[in-house]
Amino acid sequence: MESLTWQDALARMPNQRILVIGDMVADEHIFTRASGMSREAPLPVLQFVDRKLVPGGATNVARNARALGAQVWVSGVTGKDSAGQDLRRLLTEDGIQCDELYAVDGHATPVKTRIWAGGDQQPVQQQVCRIDRVERVSTAPALCERVVADLACRIPQTDAVIVADYEICMVDDAITAAVLRCARAERKPVTVDSHGNLKRFPGAAVFTPNQPEVEFTLGRALRSRDDLEAAGSRLRKVLDTQVLLITRGSEGMSLFAAGSDPVHIPALGDSRVIDPTGAGDTVSAVLTLALLVGLPPPRAAMMAAAAAGVVVRKLGAAVAAPAEIMEALASTEGPERDRV
Ligand SMILES: Nc1ncnc2c1ncn2[C@@H]1O[C@H](COP(=O)(O)OP(=O)(O)OP(=O)(O)O)[C@@H](O)[C@H]1O
Ligand SMILES: [Mg+2]
Repeated sequence: MESLTWQDALARMPNQRILVIGDMVADEHIFTRASGMSREAPLPVLQFVDRKLVPGGATNVARNARALGAQVWVSGVTGKDSAGQDLRRLLTEDGIQCDELYAVDGHATPVKTRIWAGGDQQPVQQQVCRIDRVERVSTAPALCERVVADLACRIPQTDAVIVADYEICMVDDAITAAVLRCARAERKPVTVDSHGNLKRFPGAAVFTPNQPEVEFTLGRALRSRDDLEAAGSRLRKVLDTQVLLITRGSEGMSLFAAGSDPVHIPALGDSRVIDPTGAGDTVSAVLTLALLVGLPPPRAAMMAAAAAGVVVRKLGAAVAAPAEIMEALASTEGPERDRV
């Protein structure tokens, strides 16, 4: 069979239908300028310059899939608060379907506030701290029933499901079981990107944990390349999955796919990293779509790495457009390696 070019693969993505279920997070960015030292305490005084709210957590996964043209539905909850309203508006403006996004009484939309500071003659912003307002609560039983009913209707109409579990509230045992059961019955692949124990998702087709999440699941640290290779290969079998892609921050990522040796992909792009926030969300969205349109796992992972290399050069949770991914792939491989 003729292998797909990168361009062909990207061109097929707009026909794909993706359900993203998980924890909706609002990422707030506050930009400031350092204006001097406080007289009250040994710390700098920051003058407010601007505020920006961007979709984070599962909503960042959704935006990344949407940036590649996919039709995207989100399933999750927000509070009945301004952050929740802003998230819904931003997602809707992006063309993401929010019918299964519920605003719930008594639930506070998780907000992660990052404070950035620059100087008068120094426009480069540096993150100085992050303030989280995240309540870990359980999904109300009535809502859980509603979500399970939604899944039964939605999953047959999607091509893949991405579980974006930030261990906040949405991905509890009942909802996890419903996703896996329904996806299995409909033969739809599930990608799991979870901060929790990966063994909670047996049989999911794809996993995209970062290394600390793998270490948490294993209950021990990975100390060397050999250790990573042996543990990753074993974990892929234990999880009964086709593709385990372990992301490793500035070290890149390691792919464990059924029937092949581990593949290590260095972090792509140059050293102009501005903010790695949400790069893992980009990886789960791009890898899922790339596999769905028929790229073999090593090339799908390469495309995800290229997209991650694009978003780490942008401030905050960000998306990679097809043209940016093409440019990143071209600069790392050269056109002659388009069909590996
Ligand atoms: N500092 C960095 N320099 C270069 N590339 C990076 C850097 N951090 C992340 N990346 C790229 O992004 C990919 C995903 O990042 P990472 O492993 O940090 O995921 P993550 O911890 O799940 O991120 P998040 O939870 O913030 O979405 C990495 O595999 C790498 O390709
Ligand atoms: Mg992650």
